[in-house]
Amino acid sequence: MCGIVGYIGENPERNLLYKLRLLEYRGYDSAGIAVSRGTSGAPSENNPLAVTKRAGELKNLENAVAQAGVTAGARLGIGHTRWATHGKPDATNAHPHVSSDGKWAVVHNGIIENHCELKRFLQNEGYSFYSETDTETIAKLLEYFEKRGFAPLQAIKRACDVLQGSFALAVLHENDDAIYFAKNKSPLYLAFSKRSNKKTATVQQADADAEAEGDLFIASDVVCFNDFAEEYYALPDKTYGFATAEKAEFYDGTGEIRLSSEKINAKSLCLRNNYAHYMLKEIYDTKNAIKEETDYFKTHLTRENYPLLFQPRAFKKIILTGCGTAYHAALTGARIIEEKCGADCEVYVGSEFYNAGYKLNKHALVVLISQSGETADTLAALTFAKEKGAATLAMINAEHSTLAKAADMALPVNAGAEIAVASTKAYSCQLVALYALAQTFQAAERQLPRPDLSGADELVKRLSYGDEEELRSFATLFGEGKKLFFIGRGTDYFTALEASLKIKETSYINADVYYAGELKHGFLALVDENAYVTAFATQKDTFLKTLSNAKEAQARGAKIILFTTASQEETKPYENSFFRILRVPKTDDALQSVQNVLPWQLIAYFLSVSKGLNPDKPRNLAKSVTVE
Ligand code: AGP
Ligand code: GLU
Repeated sequence: MCGIVGYIGENPERNLLYKLRLLEYRGYDSAGIAVSRGTSGAPSENNPLAVTKRAGELKNLENAVAQAGVTAGARLGIGHTRWATHGKPDATNAHPHVSSDGKWAVVHNGIIENHCELKRFLQNEGYSFYSETDTETIAKLLEYFEKRGFAPLQAIKRACDVLQGSFALAVLHENDDAIYFAKNKSPLYLAFSKRSNKKTATVQQADADAEAEGDLFIASDVVCFNDFAEEYYALPDKTYGFATAEKAEFYDGTGEIRLSSEKINAKSLCLRNNYAHYMLKEIYDTKNAIKEETDYFKTHLTRENYPLLFQPRAFKKIILTGCGTAYHAALTGARIIEEKCGADCEVYVGSEFYNAGYKLNKHALVVLISQSGETADTLAALTFAKEKGAATLAMINAEHSTLAKAADMALPVNAGAEIAVASTKAYSCQLVALYALAQTFQAAERQLPRPDLSGADELVKRLSYGDEEELRSFATLFGEGKKLFFIGRGTDYFTALEASLKIKETSYINADVYYAGELKHGFLALVDENAYVTAFATQKDTFLKTLSNAKEAQARGAKIILFTTASQEETKPYENSFFRILRVPKTDDALQSVQNVLPWQLIAYFLSVSKGLNPDKPRNLAKSVTVE
């Protein structure tokens, strides 16, 4: 999940730091850069490549570079922002990693699965290792092949032949005007800025004030090319090559290959504006995002663009998959699709998708939901679904992502860039996209030309973020240190799962989630006077049953918080049962979950801030999880 960058042009330090800022969502355990002067000589006699790396957030590296000053005459550079998989998140394990002779520097995203074996081999060859990472083996391996007479590109090829696992690599070699690269499974993109029309972009925002310009860019995400290039190359798996400021050459097992460039659909960078955090801004972006998404579906979700989705009963089974928040969207989506068109739906988390094996064939549609479109578990599910002959639909937010390109069909949810690690507006847009998909299947059944999206239009008009003061008071309540339990039935249970995930990831506070009816089958033993039990009860048909389950907890000393769409009038008879009530407006049943999650996202945000945490960058997490 690390972010890697490569750059050739003026002032590599400044440009690499600027790009790394855009990739910091991929990890913030440490950051590092290496720069070189190419054929004009080493930065210093003992130092063929100048490497700077620091533990912690990118700002630590920025400070270090600001203090040390830029490397005179440097033209090439690689950079890295890390989410540690192998070895603790300290400066030693930070990338770039260098060979023993200092001639190679490597940044890596992915996992080298056979690194133990390779390390043992290299140790027997006399190499010693300074870090705990899998990545260091790559730097040593390149040196090993070079010492056996292989030119740099051939050394890269040889290394790729023996590396197992996932990797996107950018590599510097001393006294060389090229950056070498290789890719297998982890994403990697390359772009040249138009020399005739070289652009300088300036990002102005409180926490990212930088300029960038240049000739060649390599990056883990196309977002790094916005404003600098009009086209980019997406590297296929099992390719390697090199790029100079003028050209790039790509190779696979068969020799040199030609890649066609793709147009960059440059979305403006997401600015934080006056909001204290991206998470808060993104929550408050929801209404606009849903409006834009719905407008987009009205013109693009058509029979012409998606003929397969408009065929009545085209699929015997619909299987939805995703990870984390996207999985929660899938759970809700399956219910909506089943209700709207009677389809047979199943849901799997991405990492368990292989269990769906015997249900996958050409009569199945697999819907893969992902904000980033780069989640390794979801990509593995896609590969598996395709191998079994199922039709695949990627429901993604990042349009240029691997998932979007590799699935048979892609439906963008158009939430706009989401920077905060905790997904908020993208989740809401996924729910709306699933509603639109359900409406599409219904339109197909009824032989209608297009899906009826009027429910989404209504939702946009009525969506309520709630009262901040009230939500802050709930955040205070949940921050008191009591045991938290969330219970619900049906889609309320799924909202509770998502509410709990938001609180866990941004505040590190546990909230156990149970089906309301399951509480009495064992979990009730956990409940005592020290518990707050929140009953998610926004559906009329299950309201009373959920209430009874909450009362069972109350009888054991718990305080009950009711989360409901019911009016004051409707809850009056039960008034004495509740310690607190949080109300949300009623919407179209199929879209109620979109309304329901909003106050919980805000509560999680306020709770995180009240604990003095940074909700945008929760500990141990990264936005894009590109390892299985
Ligand atoms: C969401 O708040 C989480 N950070 C996480 O569960 C996320 O939803 C999951 O990793 C899937 O990511 P994706 O949507 O980019 O595939
Ligand atoms: N495995 C490498 C490390 O731990 C890269 C991690 C990643 O890409 O997530 O440093």
